[in-house]
Amino acid sequence: MEAGGFAGLPLTQDERGGEEAAGSIEERVRDVYGFVLESASEPVRSPEAIVERLKRDYRLVVDLGTVRLVVAAFLAGRPVLFEGPPGTGKTELGEAILTLWAGKPAFVIPCSENYNEYRVIGDFHPLMALRYGFNERSFVPRPLLAAMVLGAGVLVDEIRRSSEEFQNLLLDIIDKRRVVIPELRSVVRASDPGFQIIFTSNPEDYGQGELSDAFMRRVVRVPFDYPPPEREVEIILLRYDAGPRLDAALAARMVEAARLLRERAVYKPGPADTVLWARIAGRLAALKGRDRVEAGDVVEAASIVLYKRVGEEEVVDEALRRVFGPGV
Ligand SMILES: Nc1ncnc2c1ncn2[C@@H]1O[C@H](COP(=O)(O)OP(=O)(O)OP(=O)(O)O)[C@@H](O)[C@H]1O
Ligand SMILES: [Mg+2]
Repeated sequence: MEAGGFAGLPLTQDERGGEEAAGSIEERVRDVYGFVLESASEPVRSPEAIVERLKRDYRLVVDLGTVRLVVAAFLAGRPVLFEGPPGTGKTELGEAILTLWAGKPAFVIPCSENYNEYRVIGDFHPLMALRYGFNERSFVPRPLLAAMVLGAGVLVDEIRRSSEEFQNLLLDIIDKRRVVIPELRSVVRASDPGFQIIFTSNPEDYGQGELSDAFMRRVVRVPFDYPPPEREVEIILLRYDAGPRLDAALAARMVEAARLLRERAVYKPGPADTVLWARIAGRLAALKGRDRVEAGDVVEAASIVLYKRVGEEEVVDEALRRVFGPGV
């Protein structure tokens, strides 16, 4: 971290005060977020190694091409935008990739309308500020600033839920890899390559705002989609955690039904739903004292996992009948 003049201007006498202060911003960050460094490990930066570790340590399946794109963007100093349908692993993959890349746990910022710089960069403790004034002592650093100082990644989840003002603030930070804290007359710069940003967004979900062209110009967009059937089966089996055995052939039929619903239903089940569906079917089988999941368990579990919208039950039943037979 360095301190410098605003907009490249030479430092004034006052700002040199700010320079010292910047040192204590770093200390404040270490005071509050030092625990992040306790679980630091060797950064993992090769796409092949990242794919392997994602599967082994996080039970996440992703193709090498996607990870290569992310790594290329990081190396070019650009943040990444994961955009795609719900339940396709955007949030979990984003956090895991950032964590592996930095060798430190990533910070997660779940966006909402009222997010602003005070909640992501820093704030002043009201009582401390009354007592000591607006200085480093009363300053409470927040995740984005902490990530810059500590060289950790930041997952900005559901960016379309944030305000335009917040997005503009981020643009400035992305461009210059630094934040200005006017109250402290300080500038904090990110120099550690572990500091990277991944945004997630799902344009089809409810209550989603637009992302400006200015925002899109600065990020590398990596589109997400439903995985190919074989990969979704792999995901289901990797995430399956119930006792009774689940055959790959039965998991494949579940994926087939889910894919029919993605074409026809308003609520489109993602891999998050098929994973849950299998886990519940497995538990139903266990409760019935069986050591193997049967089609009947899967169909029974469907009623709680796939009936998401009133009036859409028939569409779900029809898809289940097509895949599992007319007895459904
Ligand atoms: N590629 C994948 N590998 C392993 N599990 C996956 C994958 N994609 C989805 N899942 C399953 O989906 C769950 C949810 O994933 P996640 O929350 O990251 O999706 P998302 O795309 O962020 O969804 P949303 O748009 O609803 O926020 C995971 O816990 C996991 O069970
Ligand atoms: Mg998500």
